[in-house]
Amino acid sequence: MIYARVAGTGSYLPGNPVTNDDLVARGIETSDEWIVERTGIRSRYLAAPDVTSSQLAYEASLRAIEAAGCKPGDIDLIIVATSTPDFIFPSTATLLQARLGIVNGSPAFDLQAVCAGFAYAISTAEKFIRSGGTRRALVVGAEVFSRILDWNDRGTCVLFGDGAGAVVLEASEAPGILASAIHADGSHNPILCVPGQINRGEVTGDPFLRMDGQAVFKFAVKVLADVAREVADLGGVSLDEVDWLIPHQANIRIIQATGKRLGLSMDKVIATVSRHGNTSAASIPLALDEAVRDGRIQRGQKVILEGIGGGFAWGATLLQF
Ligand code: UT7
Repeated sequence: MIYARVAGTGSYLPGNPVTNDDLVARGIETSDEWIVERTGIRSRYLAAPDVTSSQLAYEASLRAIEAAGCKPGDIDLIIVATSTPDFIFPSTATLLQARLGIVNGSPAFDLQAVCAGFAYAISTAEKFIRSGGTRRALVVGAEVFSRILDWNDRGTCVLFGDGAGAVVLEASEAPGILASAIHADGSHNPILCVPGQINRGEVTGDPFLRMDGQAVFKFAVKVLADVAREVADLGGVSLDEVDWLIPHQANIRIIQATGKRLGLSMDKVIATVSRHGNTSAASIPLALDEAVRDGRIQRGQKVILEGIGGGFAWGATLLQF
């Protein structure tokens, strides 16, 4: 049996942390107290105007490749989960492939499932590895959400940040990914969207992120608990045996409510939202890399990763690290 096993992780955050008070100083009508109480966010990273998702992806990928003990040329699949690509095309994944100097003709493509992007991407890469055609996949979540925020909408602009995280998945006889599940329900499209487009050289519609926060909150808590249970069942593992839960990092209240519904205490839940904000597809691999590097996540432990985002799309992966 061939498993897809995490061989290495990496992440990258641009520049310096921007605190809630820094946002107030920039003229946003908010307060540190409101943001912390409603979301748990204290700071986030915002990329400089000329820094793109592929650049963040490159930095995170170099770290993941080094941690995996391989070379860029050993990678034979790249999937980049992003909703803030450098261009409409070429894909951010092919830009990353070129930046990494990979010229082996292996496939590289973007995957767009907003904040569920990394859950979708790791599940997709696993299928390539299990089917036997791919040996080493680079799976990346990279975002510059600061580009699509309406900085006059205090209900959304304080929530998001920029960054990237990456994993190298390797074909292995030792256990790795034990189960994955991905889902979507397009009837919820309007509650979280960027409803603009480029049409005949002009932006038409609204090019900024719009969200019905309370509707998203309720939906997220329910499906994050359901999909974590689903992958635990599929993998034949009880929730008691799960060492770590890494939920999408949008709001500490959503993270706490999910942990509570699953009967997992917060010391088994990885939370980085206070320092990263919501980095969409990057949030899970950023949190994973942090917990691997600081020694919390150890080889052999069981971890559930789970994401949810616009679409709505959601998914989870149970893996043995
Ligand atoms: O990746 C998935 C994407 N997103 C999420 O998962 C987010 C899910 N939703 C949430 O996290 C929460 O709904 C929010 C944090 C977005 C909002 O929290 P809330 O408790 O649902 O607040 P609310 O939208 O009901 O707003 C409460 C009040 C309003 O004032 P009034 O009408 O009560 O006078 C807002 O105008 O808070 C006001 N408000 C703010 N005040 C200070 C909204 N944003 C801010 C702000 N600073 N940044």
